[in-house]
Amino acid sequence: MSKRYTITAALPYTNGPIHIGHLAGVYVPADIYSRYLRLTGNDVAFICGSDEHGVPITIKAKKEGVTPQDIVNKYHAIIKQSFIDFGITFDNYSRTTAQIHHDTAQEFFKTLYDKNEFVEEVTEQLYDAEANQFLADRFVTGTCPKCGNEEAYGDQCESCGSSLNATDLINPKSAITGNVPSLKETKHWFLPLNKHEDFLREWILKGHKKDWKPNVYGQVKSWIDDGLRPRAVTRDLDWGIPVPVEGGEGKVLYVWFDAPIGYISATKEWAAREGKNWEDYWKDEDTKLVHFIGKDNIVFHCIIFPAMLKAEGSYILPDNVPANEFLNLEGQKLSTSKNWAVWLPDYLIDFPNQQDVLRYALTANAPESKDNDFTWKDFQARNNNELVAIFGNFINRVVVLTNKYYDGIIPAPSDYSTIDEETLAAVKAYPAVISSSIERYRFREASQELMNLARLGNKYLADEEPWKTFKTDEARTKTVMFVALQIASALAVLSEPFLPFTSTKLKGILNSNDNGWEDVSTKDILIPASHQIGKGELLFSKIEDSEIQIQLDKLEASKKANEAEKKVTEPQKDEITFDDFTKLDLRVGTIIEAEKMPKTKKLLVLKVDTGIDTRTIVSGIAESFSPEDVIGKRVTVLVNLAPRALRGVESQGMILMTEDETGKLVFVNPDTSTTPNAESDGVNNGLQIS
Ligand code: 2FM
Ligand code: ZN
Repeated sequence: MSKRYTITAALPYTNGPIHIGHLAGVYVPADIYSRYLRLTGNDVAFICGSDEHGVPITIKAKKEGVTPQDIVNKYHAIIKQSFIDFGITFDNYSRTTAQIHHDTAQEFFKTLYDKNEFVEEVTEQLYDAEANQFLADRFVTGTCPKCGNEEAYGDQCESCGSSLNATDLINPKSAITGNVPSLKETKHWFLPLNKHEDFLREWILKGHKKDWKPNVYGQVKSWIDDGLRPRAVTRDLDWGIPVPVEGGEGKVLYVWFDAPIGYISATKEWAAREGKNWEDYWKDEDTKLVHFIGKDNIVFHCIIFPAMLKAEGSYILPDNVPANEFLNLEGQKLSTSKNWAVWLPDYLIDFPNQQDVLRYALTANAPESKDNDFTWKDFQARNNNELVAIFGNFINRVVVLTNKYYDGIIPAPSDYSTIDEETLAAVKAYPAVISSSIERYRFREASQELMNLARLGNKYLADEEPWKTFKTDEARTKTVMFVALQIASALAVLSEPFLPFTSTKLKGILNSNDNGWEDVSTKDILIPASHQIGKGELLFSKIEDSEIQIQLDKLEASKKANEAEKKVTEPQKDEITFDDFTKLDLRVGTIIEAEKMPKTKKLLVLKVDTGIDTRTIVSGIAESFSPEDVIGKRVTVLVNLAPRALRGVESQGMILMTEDETGKLVFVNPDTSTTPNAESDGVNNGLQIS
C-alpha cells in the first residue's frame, strides 16, 4: 500500500568537501531507500541541506582570514555538486543560512519559549578572557569525564559518543588561544531533557519493538538509564540564528537546536516550490519519518530532537533512525585534518563516470552493524569480480548475442523447458527479497541479492549455452535468448536504487523503460519479442592494479606528511620556578598489575608499587601499550597528585610519559642506562598525564 514518507539525511557541515565515510554512512543508504520507495509508488520527500552554523565553521573562517559566510558558500556549492554527481536524489537540498530556515528555527524556539518549555538560567560558563569570548562546543577541548578521551569537545566526546556540557570537561583548554578558561556568568535557555525522560523511555521502547538497530536502541537506552539533564540550547556566539526573545541579544541558537529544524525548513521550501502542503510531511500521523545518520549523531536524533518535537506538540516523531557505524580507510579512522580520506571530487577525477562502482563498493561493505574498513583492494575486487565479471559480463553476453544472431531484434520463444520455467519464477521472486532487505535497512544484503540475480543470469547462459545451440537448434536458442533478455530487463529495474547510472544505461541499451518494481514479479514478459534493442556498450570496465597503486600512494603521501608534521617539536612551555618543581613528589615505581578498563579504548587500570604503598593509577595509554607490555615495568610516578575518578575508578597518581621524535608515547624511564629518557635525547614534548 502506498504511504507517505519523510526521509532525512544528516545535514553535512559546510567546512570541507564530503568523503566516502559520509557517502557510505548516510547518503547512499538514504538514497537507496528513497529511490526504492519512489519506485514502489510511495509519496516521498527526501530532504537534506547544508549545516552552516556551528563553531567549526567560524574556526575555519578565522584560520583562512575570511568570513563564515564565505566558507559556507564555498563548501555548500562543492557538497551540493558532489551529491548531484553521485546520483543522490534529494527532493530538496537546502541550507541553514536560508531565510526560511532562520524564520522556521526562530518560530520553533519562540513556540517552546511561549509554552514555558525552557528553563532560563544564569550559570557560570567557560570563558577565554584573551579572546574575549565564551567557550562552548568545539571552542573548547578537554578530557571526557566518562571515558578519559583527552580530545573531547565541549558538547560531545567523539570517542564514547557522550553528549557533554562544556563545564563537564576535565582540564578544559580554549581552542582559540590554548588558554585555560575561567568561569563567567551568562544567561541561557535550557531544554529540560529530564522532564521528557518518561516519554523518551516509552518511545524508545516502541522503537525497540519495531526492530530498531541494536546499536541505536542500546545507546539511547543507556543514556536514558544514566539520567538526562537540562541542555543549553543557546550560545554566546555571533555566528548563528539570533535568539528571538527578550534578553537574547548577542546570543544565537545552539547549532544542534537549529540543524534538525533544517529538515523542516527544507521540506517547507520544497513544498512551496512543488505546490504541496509541508505539514502533511511533518504533522500527519500516517507519514513515516526516517532519519539517516552516522552513529555520532544518535543522541541528537533520538533524544534531543524528539524532545524538541514533543515539547512543540504538533509534530510526528521519527519512526526509525537507522544510524550506521563508522567506515575506516585502510585500517585507520577517516580524518579530515590528517587528510586520511577519499574526497568525492578527487574520486571523480581519478575514476570519471564510475560513481556506481563507489556506490556499490560502499554498499556491499557498508558499516551497518559494526565499524568497517574501506580498502582500495576490496574496491578493485568488488568492481572486477562482481560488477565486471558477473553483472557486466551477463549483460554484455546477452546484448552482443542478440545483436549478432538477430540484429538486435528480440526473438520469439518456443515452449519453455523446466529450467526456463524455474529461472523465470526465480526472477519473479527477487523484488520481494530485495524489498524485504531494504525495508529492514539491510542495504548490504539487498545489494548482494541484486548481484545474485545477475549470477542467476550468468548461470542460465552458461548452462544453456546458446552459442552452441545456435548451430544446432534455432528454436531453443531463441527461447534461451528471450529468457536471458527477461533477466536483463529485471536487472535494469531492480538495480536502479543501487546503481542508478548503470540502470539508466541498461534501460537505454535495452531501449525499454516500461517496467516498474512490481512488474518484475507480476508480468510474464518484461520485454517482448520483436522489440529492437540497442548496440552493446560496456557497463563496467576492469580497474587495473596501477590505478589502485595511485590511490595507495596518495594515502602513503598523507601518512608521510602527517608524520613530518608530528615531528615538529612543540615549543617550550612557560617557565616555572624551582619551588614549583619541588612540589612534585616523584618516585620510581613498578607496575605490578594491569588490565584494560572495560568499555574504553584508551584506559588501563594499573596497580603500582610506589615504594610507599601499592596504589591504583588509571592511565590513558591503552592505545599504545597492552597490559602485558607494561606489567613489571619500572616507571616514574607523580605520587602527590590529587586523586580523581575516571569511569568510577579513583586514580591515585600519574605515570610520567612523553613522546619520542616520531610522536610515539614513551615512558619517562627511570632506568636511563638501558633506554635513554626523553630529556636526554632532546625531544621532550612535555610530560603528559597518563
Ligand atoms: O554531524 C554533522 O555533520 C552534523 N552537521 C549533522 C547535522 S544533522 C541534522 F540534525 F541537521
Ligand atoms: Zn568520552
